[in-house]
Parts: sequence; C-alpha cells; structure tokens
Amino acid sequence: MEEIPGLSIPLTLYAPETAIKDIIGEKIADTSLREEIDDSFYVVDLGKAVEQYETWMKCIPRVHPFYAMKCNHDNPLVKVLAQLGTGFECGSKREIQTVLDCGVKPCDIIYANTCKQESYVKFARQNGVSQMTFDNEDELYKINRVYSDSRLVLRLAPDDNSALTRVSFKYGCPPANAQHLLNVAKGLGLNVVGVSFHVGSVVQNPESYADPIRAARRVFDLATKLGFQMEILDIGGGFPGDLYAQIVPPFQKFADVINRELEQNFAASEFPSLRIISEPGRYFAGPGYTIVLNVIARHTIDYCDDEDDDKKAPEFRYYLNDGLYGSFLNTSYKPVTLIPAFLKERNPDEPKYSSSIWGQTCDGLDFITKSCTMNKLEVGEWVFVEALGAYSMSSCSNFNGFNTPACYYVAPKHLRALLEETFKPDELKT
Ligand SMILES: Cc1ncc(COP(=O)(O)O)c(C=O)c1O
Repeated sequence: MEEIPGLSIPLTLYAPETAIKDIIGEKIADTSLREEIDDSFYVVDLGKAVEQYETWMKCIPRVHPFYAMKCNHDNPLVKVLAQLGTGFECGSKREIQTVLDCGVKPCDIIYANTCKQESYVKFARQNGVSQMTFDNEDELYKINRVYSDSRLVLRLAPDDNSALTRVSFKYGCPPANAQHLLNVAKGLGLNVVGVSFHVGSVVQNPESYADPIRAARRVFDLATKLGFQMEILDIGGGFPGDLYAQIVPPFQKFADVINRELEQNFAASEFPSLRIISEPGRYFAGPGYTIVLNVIARHTIDYCDDEDDDKKAPEFRYYLNDGLYGSFLNTSYKPVTLIPAFLKERNPDEPKYSSSIWGQTCDGLDFITKSCTMNKLEVGEWVFVEALGAYSMSSCSNFNGFNTPACYYVAPKHLRALLEETFKPDELKT
C-alpha cells in the first residue's frame, strides 16, 4: 500500500485485489494514529462512497442525493461527497456549518429538521440556507418571525412500518392536514416550494415509497391551486447500504419502485423543472467503515450440573473495546444478532459456544450482542465489523473515559486524482 504524500489527511491507496483483512493487518501494526497499540480503530474506505454515488446516478438519475449528515459527519466522507456533487441534508447549526466549510453552496443544503431552534433558523438565514422543512403550524409562525422569505418544504408523515427505525410518530404531517398547513402558510405570506417525506431507516419493503410519492403529488396539486410555485420533491432516506443490506432487498428494487412512481406521478414532461432530491444516510456512510476491535477480556462461565456432576459446555462473555457508548448504540436496539468477523481464520470444525459480547464501559447496559453462538475468542485477538459507518461514530461518546476510535483512511488506487483534488494540502483538519 502506498501513502499519497502532502494531503491534508493521511490516506493510503491499495491495489484492487487487496483484501480487507490485509488492510486491517497493516493498520494494526501502524500505531501512528492510536494512543495504544490495542486501541480499537476504523479502516475507512472512501472508495465505497464513490461506488455508491456511481450506482445511485446509474439507477435513479432523476433524483439528486442530499446526504443525511446525521448519519456520519466524518469530514473526509463529507468532503468526498461534496466533491462528487451530492447535496446535503442537515438537522442542526453545526451540520450546516460543516457542510458550508466544505465549500457546498447553500442551495445544495436542505435544513430538514421540522422542529428547529429559533436561533438556528436565524443562522440559516444569515448563511443563505433557505430550503427548510416544516410539519406543524407553530413552526410556520416561528419561521415567519425570523426567515419569512425562506423556501419551505412540507414534510408528510408516511406509513413507515416497514422500517427498522421508525420516525412518523415524531415527525411529519398526516396528508389529511396538509391543506390546513398550506392555508396557514398562505395566510402568512410564506413561500411553500415543495413536499418531503421520510419512510424511516432500514426500509424492508421498497413499495413503502409508492404511497408517499402519490400523496406528495396530491399535495402538489393542492399547493398549486393555492398559488404556490412547487419546485422540490424530497423522497427522504431509508436506502440500503450498511450491514443491514443483508436483510433488505437490493438497491435496484428501491430504484425500480421510485422510478415507476416518479414516472406516473411526476413525469418529466409535466414537471420539466422539478428538482427531485433524496436524503440517503446509510446508503453512503455505511459501506466504507470497518471497525476493528480488540478482545480486551474474557469471562468463562463453567457450568457444573450438581445432580449428575456432568460438566456442560462453558459459556463465554467477551469484552471488546467499543460498545453501546461508542459505535454500537444504533445496532444495539435492532432485531439483528451482530457477530464480529475474526481476523484469524478458524477451522470449520472448531466448536462453537454460547457467547455474549460486551462493551468496555462499566455500565451493565453496555452490550454489543446479548446472546449468540460462535467460535472461541482469545484475549488480545482482533475482530472486525464491516459496513458500520451509519449512526456509529456519529454518536460516539467518551463516557467512562474511553477514547473514540481513530480512523485510517484508504481508497483504491484508481481514485488517486479525485482524492488529490478533494484533499488539497492543509485544507482540512480531521
Ligand atoms: C429526515 C431524515 N432524512 C434522512 C434520514 C436518513 O435515513 P437513512 O440513513 O436510513 O437513509 C433520516 C434518518 O433517519 C431522517 O430522519
């Protein structure tokens, strides 16, 4: 592997045939970015975001992705996406600032938090970030006070029951209330320009996008009748890409439903200047991030049946150096058993044992996997979890005094020119 010299981030290029285990092996030996040799870390393959972008543009070319910053605000990822030309979905002042600092134009940002702090709305105004969502009447009064010439997008609450993470109970306006909100906006002289929805995260049924696209069309018609110039359709996030991609349909199935519904409800001939955007998070952030963890401790529970004195197979509790307060908050409450991959190969006929996997903090809630069956691990060995870039490092804390994992950035060799353009010297601090 070869380092590109002089860039604002340390970045190594790998040859196309290089296996992730070889990259991990090299980074375990390279402690330049870690405080301790056995600290956990991420290998971040920026090439995966580029691949995802190319796939998106091939499958759903009418939809301009606005990357959902909350998913992972890691600066090099944001920089690469900005360089490729995505827009950005932001939910807070800091997210907006990060994206602006990466040179993104305000018109390529949507402030898609329907319940905003008033001072943040002022900040958006000062920075020309005019596109923002709303889903309730009070938000309209707030926006009218501080940013009355903003460009408003009405967020609908779709049926999100096919998603592993649902949000419609918290955000969005039932389509039946749309007319009322449009009337209020009209009465205030505000400028409604679009409709959005978000069908939740880790969507299992691609057909979930069909109804909300149809509902959005009905709201477009209502708004147009009221005299609003409708310019934006925002189909939200929820697309596969991270470790849950294994349990949901492939991206192409989502693309098929979306293209079909756009054609039927928002045909290009009828809406020639409509800007169709989306807010994918997992899709872009998930695939490139592999966390590498050290087995820092093991507790063997040796069961002995008192009655017949037969020894049962032992159970193992493993302790890894990241967990619920680090990268695994979001995975912990999903109905999926997460078993890390082992760096050291195992013989297929090695026995498997009842096991549980815990994080390093002293909190009893800090688990990664409560119950699974797997080969035995040794203290000090390394394991890894691929495609863990979504909602992982973005919610890491330093609870109990533990460091957040360092990132080692890598990319395939053929992306050299793009990356040299993206990470000009000294432009960016990670
Ligand atoms: C409003 C909004 N848009 C986009 C996203 C991104 O979702 P995902 O990461 O599943 O694409 C979220 C996350 O739940 C969200 O709340």
